[in-house]
Formats: sequence, C-alpha cells, structure tokens
Amino acid sequence: MRRRTRRAIAIHFADWYFIVARRHVHLLMVVTLVLLAIAFAAAMARASSAPDQTKERTTRDKVYSKEQAARGAAMFGKVCAPCHDPAKKTPDKTPGPPLLGSTSMFVENWKEHTIGEVFTTILTTMPNDGSVVLTESDTVDLVAHILQANGYPDGPDELKFDAAAKAVKVVPVK
Ligand code: HEC
Repeated sequence: MRRRTRRAIAIHFADWYFIVARRHVHLLMVVTLVLLAIAFAAAMARASSAPDQTKERTTRDKVYSKEQAARGAAMFGKVCAPCHDPAKKTPDKTPGPPLLGSTSMFVENWKEHTIGEVFTTILTTMPNDGSVVLTESDTVDLVAHILQANGYPDGPDELKFDAAAKAVKVVPVK
C-alpha cells in the first residue's frame, strides 16, 4: 500500500516534470525568438542610421553645417561678393554668375555635376583677380555658404575636402 502510493507519487512527479520541461522548452523558444527579434530590430535601426556609403549622396543630404556656412559667408562677403552678388557689384570688376539667393545661377550651371568639380573651380580659379589665394578649408566653407544660400538644408557634419564630399552630386533643391 505504502509502496504503491510512493510509486503513484513518482509517476505523478514524472508526468509533472515532463509537462513543465515541455512548457519550458516552449518558453525557451519564445524567449529566444523575442531576443532574436530585438537583436534584428537593433541591427536594422543601426543600419538605417549609419550613413550608407554605397548610396549616392546629393546636395539635399545635409552635407554641410550651419557654423561652416557662417564662416563661408564672412569670407564670401569680403572676397567673392564684389563679383558674384549683384547687390554688391563693383564697377571695376568683371562680374561672375550670381551664386546666392533668388537670382542664383548655381543650380542651373552645376546640376548633374559634383561638389568635387565646384571645389576645383573655386580652389584653382577663384577669385580670378588673384586678390586672395584660397586654401582647401576656405573652399569647403565657401561651398557650404553657397549651398545654404541656394536653399539646401544644413546638418550636424561639416563638408570636408575629401572623396565622399567630392562625390556629392548637385541636384535641384526640390
Ligand atoms: C574679380 C571678380 C571675381 C571674384 C572676386 C570672384 N569671382 Fe568667381 N567668377 C568670376 C567670373 C567672371 C566667373 C565666370 C567666368 C569664369 O569661369 O572665369 C566666375 C565663376 C565662378 C564660379 C562658377 C560659376 C558658374 O556658375 O559657372 C564659381 C563657383 C565662383 N566663381 C566662385 C567664386 C568664389 C567662391 C569666389 C570668392 C572666393 C569668387 N568666385 C570670386 C569672377 C570673380
């Protein structure tokens, strides 16, 4: 009698154990799937926030910073405006195409070209009266100002004189 009871308890325990074990297998699977889903979501979030090196960037992609454009504006006002800003035109200088604001020819003249080509033109030919010799850092700041003055959005990162920036394509603002 006592023996039988013990055996019955043992059998019950075995049943209970397997039920729990099986439930835990399911629980384990659920936990694993949830963890995988979280890891996947995190990986996707990281992938979408990191700049995609393979995707072509354009002048709409926040390629310069506000501070940089302000530095460029100060220099542009002194060195470039006499020829490129109709409002500040100087009679003794041959004017170039307007590059700022509503009269700007910048997008018209440079669309489908790259920022690298703009860099080269400015760095090697401007100002064409030879009044100042520009550095690479002057050049990127000036381009930042021109981009801002043509309505492109600024972002957290500065435009640099590097391969990534040179590959940026000029596209219409909208
Ligand atoms: C003495 C006048 C003069 C000054 C100063 C000058 N430029 Fe120019 N720029 C020109 C003329 C003229 C052209 C057009 C003919 C040419 O390409 O040489 C031109 C062309 C350009 C172009 C190409 C424009 C286009 O749409 O084709 C850019 C960009 C430019 N200048 C930027 C600058 C910047 C930035 C500065 C200041 C650092 C500057 N320039 C100073 C006269 C000037």
